[in-house]
Amino acid sequence: MYEPHPPLILIGFMAVGKSSLGRLLAKKLNYEFIDTDLWIENKYHKSIPELMQGGDETDFRKKERFVLEEVACIENAVIATGGGAPCSPGAMDILLSAGVVFYLQLDNELLAERVYKYRARRPSVAKLDPEAIRTFVQEKMHERAPYYERAHRIVDAKDLDNKEMIYKCAEELAEQYHAILRQQFNGKE
Ligand code: S3P
Repeated sequence: MYEPHPPLILIGFMAVGKSSLGRLLAKKLNYEFIDTDLWIENKYHKSIPELMQGGDETDFRKKERFVLEEVACIENAVIATGGGAPCSPGAMDILLSAGVVFYLQLDNELLAERVYKYRARRPSVAKLDPEAIRTFVQEKMHERAPYYERAHRIVDAKDLDNKEMIYKCAEELAEQYHAILRQQFNGKE
């Protein structure tokens, strides 16, 4: 029998591992997997680099915010948000009341390494050298950490580049998700 549950939502900086973990979690929970970046690309028929062309993020952020509200109410889903999505005004309130929010946290040095490695499809960093990426990560994390840290749980993401550890983390998060549903979304579990 289909039982509706609030979504499991993954937030955190770009390249931290939200999508790989999210896909696995969705399989485990038998949920739909939603990546807000892909959702935006499909909805507006443009790639993220096209939407952010010219370095002006305003239009992209508006679309991202719209999509966040749209997907947050989808039941039985694992949602991986774009790195900047939780940081627009009111976005964290929407996410926290819609579902169970996990923040995948990593220190700035490791984040910078991962962002550099996976920079190609991320327009705000694609052309930056390692040093400039380090500065970018520090500045953005300074702005974003207070938003991210409001999540229901903070998850250490340092091993999320290792397949076995991703599996282990997915196991743990699936359990925590059900526990949080029982405590905080009473009656919906
Ligand atoms: C961004 C992160 C990206 C994407 C866009 C902007 C950001 O998503 O939304 O390039 O500002 O942190 P990922 O976190 O999936 O890379």
